Amino acid sequence: MTPTVLGIESSCDDTAAAVVTGDRRILSSVVAGQAALHAEFGGVVPEIAARAHAERLDVAVEQALAEAGVTLGDLDAIAVTAGPGLIGGVLAGVMLAKGLAAGTGLPLVGVNHLAGHALTPRLTDGVDFPYLMLLVSGGHCQFLTVSGPEDFTRLGGTIDDAPGEAFDKVAKLLGLPQPGGPAVEAQAAAGDPRAIPLPRPLLDRPGCDMSFSGLKTAVLRARDEAVARDGGLRAGVRADICAAFQAAVAEVLAEKTRRALALTGAPLVAVAGGGAANRAIRAALEAVADAARVRFLAPPLPLCTDNAAMIAWAGIERLALGQRDGMDLAARPRWPL
Ligand code: KG4
Ligand code: ZN
Repeated sequence: MTPTVLGIESSCDDTAAAVVTGDRRILSSVVAGQAALHAEFGGVVPEIAARAHAERLDVAVEQALAEAGVTLGDLDAIAVTAGPGLIGGVLAGVMLAKGLAAGTGLPLVGVNHLAGHALTPRLTDGVDFPYLMLLVSGGHCQFLTVSGPEDFTRLGGTIDDAPGEAFDKVAKLLGLPQPGGPAVEAQAAAGDPRAIPLPRPLLDRPGCDMSFSGLKTAVLRARDEAVARDGGLRAGVRADICAAFQAAVAEVLAEKTRRALALTGAPLVAVAGGGAANRAIRAALEAVADAARVRFLAPPLPLCTDNAAMIAWAGIERLALGQRDGMDLAARPRWPL
């Protein structure tokens, strides 16, 4: 019998609940974002996020059950993000999941948020192990060989900022709204990526490690030079800076993906996380996969960014291994794969 599992996600600024079945059907996936709550602060405020999760999680769960057309009695397990993430939010999710598990007698399954992202290609496309995963989100950037539901080998990652974080900071430097990724991408469409020379950090170094904070500093310098020269930041220059920055990020990710593929000989490369929403990044990665004659997979956007369907699915994978957690399941702010 295929299990029906409720997933709960609250590790950053999305309050999410979903119902997913073992035969890969997403019966519902509710995501309540908090962008408006954090907008005036220019970034996610942990205390505000935790309070919002505490207030909204049960509503998200009720909505997910209703949209799926199921009740708690139809479920086979409760899966919840137990980390890594902002501890207040993770705690809110874990406490709710424990309460539901205690009240219903259903098994409780703790899920690593990163495993949720990394296993998404199995939910969306039913791909087999092993495959290469580039996780490129607001807080994370790493290459993983995914060999099993709990078998991840980290090949490399950023040694400082994640690309999403860099997009957000660049947006701030250029007076664009948050989240920065979509705003910078929109500007980049009108710019010339060759107009402003920016570095390609760590490309001269072997391996799959990356660095994006120097790029941000280079953008700051380019902005200051333009302001000093033109007496302000002209719209055309701003677009050029965005285009140059986006091209630099895409080129670094693509070249490191080429190396990761050569290193692993993986038959498929998948990308996940908010950065996967960027069309220039997607296109650069797809070109690398084509050249290496491997399959490229980018899950639909709502399943690339934070969601609870991926958490329910990762829970289903753990259940299939015969695993579950007890009431001592801990919320972990740090939890490397
Ligand atoms: O995966 P995600 O939704 O949340 C985390 O788990 O971090 O990623 C959010 C990040 C933000 O930093 C946002 O600026 C970035 O993904 N992002 C983008 C784009 N859309 C979202 N970055 C570049 N281009 C985009 N179109
Ligand atoms: Zn995430």
